[in-house]
Amino acid sequence: MNYSRFKLIFRLLPVIFFLQYFNSVYAQKKPAGFKEIKEGEIINLYDAFGKDSMLKKDFGFSCITKFHGKIILFDAGSNADLFKYNCKKLAIDLRKVDFVVVSHGHFDHLNGIDYLLSIHPKVKIYFPYDIFWGAPVPFDATGQEISCKDSLPSYQQYFDGGPTKFTIHQSGRFWNSNIEFVKSSREIMPGLHLIATSSSYMGYFSCYPNKSFVEGQFNQAKDECKQSGLPELSCSMKTENGQILIVGCSHTGIDNIIAETRKITEDKIDLVYGGFHMIPFDRKQTIDLIFKLKNEFMVKRVAPAHCTGHLAFKLLQDSFEKNYLYAGLGSVVK
Ligand SMILES: [Fe+2]
Repeated sequence: MNYSRFKLIFRLLPVIFFLQYFNSVYAQKKPAGFKEIKEGEIINLYDAFGKDSMLKKDFGFSCITKFHGKIILFDAGSNADLFKYNCKKLAIDLRKVDFVVVSHGHFDHLNGIDYLLSIHPKVKIYFPYDIFWGAPVPFDATGQEISCKDSLPSYQQYFDGGPTKFTIHQSGRFWNSNIEFVKSSREIMPGLHLIATSSSYMGYFSCYPNKSFVEGQFNQAKDECKQSGLPELSCSMKTENGQILIVGCSHTGIDNIIAETRKITEDKIDLVYGGFHMIPFDRKQTIDLIFKLKNEFMVKRVAPAHCTGHLAFKLLQDSFEKNYLYAGLGSVVK
């Protein structure tokens, strides 16, 4: 490099520094265009009721929150296009999501994940241990009259005559995603527990004679039928006032999920937010359940959404009064 070129660069240095400084200041002041999710607030991103006419209502559920600096997406609604639309209208930057909790494998909580993965493909996803969505399958292909196997040539025997009990490590619906299937309740970061339950109301049933085709997955029910309750995850976060529990659809029963949360966290329940799945219940059943939540489980506040149902919205509101928090689409619960 000759001397004149060196002199030119030297003279330009202040300009370069100024431009860099200006750029950094501008970048900080420039509105990001996205909403900042504040610590402790829960925003409903997908639901069939709400006040904001700019958002698109649909039956399904999704919410987003921030806990100890981590942005957590819980469920993703029924329709990826509507999920994308509502997130954009609400100025939610899904690329900032640290991890996702999917409550269960029903379409109305799940399909927006396809949109999320298109813009944030490596995001960590916690999913219930559900073999119909990708969890490893412990499988028993032994069948009956075991010795019959030996009369067959090896090329007609499973795995050339190898063991007939094995685990199928399937790729699942979310192939190549950063997904973890959660079998039992556990703390995934300080103060945040995933609560794993399974539904006695709804699940996967196998009524083939003799053995269930999936060993270990199905518990003996009655007669020859073996069944597996639908696995479901809820998310419980510790605060100084007790646990903030987010539920998706409560197919396990909202009371059973709360009981498991109290057992696992050994803490009181400050708030239950999400779908309580009380639509099927009549007035007496609804009143009994609300009584249980309030008096047996000492739930302080409720923020029902999604599948809770009109009757339960009304009766929960009558019962919890000021401790009933409105949680429709687009609302922010603090
Ligand atoms: Fe649901």
